[in-house]
Amino acid sequence: MAKDMLRMAVLYALLAIGIGIVMASQHDFTNKSLHAHANLVGWVSMALMGVIYQVFPAMAHSVLARVHFWLHNLGLPVMLAGIYAVMHQWPAAEPIVGTGSMVVALGFVAFALNAWLNAGQQVKLADAQDDRARAAQHAAGVSRPAAASATV
Ligand code: HEM
Ligand code: HEM
Repeated sequence: MAKDMLRMAVLYALLAIGIGIVMASQHDFTNKSLHAHANLVGWVSMALMGVIYQVFPAMAHSVLARVHFWLHNLGLPVMLAGIYAVMHQWPAAEPIVGTGSMVVALGFVAFALNAWLNAGQQVKLADAQDDRARAAQHAAGVSRPAAASATV
């Protein structure tokens, strides 16, 4: 979960920084809110939440983490598309911003619930075993090509 959050966060960082550079170079700040929220809700919040999932594994293993991930990542593109439309003289898009924002906000609610219920709890034994099995598989996958190349 931490990895998925980080991967999405860096995509938003690239998008937001791209918008920032275009704004600065054209001296047209119409997209300031789009840039600010792609950066702050996309990059900063998601990267921070990803680090939090890594620090508190019981949060990452909760179903609330999946719920949060999908609400955040489905709501945010809708919210940003709506902000873009409104800022470019299409006020009828306001309900789109509202809908996207509400979905993102529900994602934050799931994250907040997860923090209160699960931060600092022990990871369930079965989940911990899954993690160890995945780590072992990964280690085997990484070492195999090295071993193969050593025999050539
Ligand atoms: C190469 C990177 C970046 C460029 C070129 C850039 C460019 C800009 C520009 C041109 C503005 C409009 C300034 C104005 O209205 O006078 C702006 C506003 C803003 N930027 Fe960036 N930015 C960058 C990175 C970031 C990052 C990493 C963040 C946050 C993590 C960020 C957050 C904001 C915010 C919150 C505003 C709105 C400030 C306000 O309302 O006055 N920017 N940026
Ligand atoms: C669903 C979530 C959010 C909604 C609906 C929302 C809504 C808004 C609105 C309506 C504005 C005023 C925009 C304007 O006057 O142009 C604003 C500005 C701002 N918000 Fe948010 N916000 C959200 C999340 C966040 C988060 C998570 C952060 C920081 C981590 C943040 C930081 C800011 C900043 C710095 C500004 C001023 C920059 C600007 O002019 O756009 N917002 N937000």
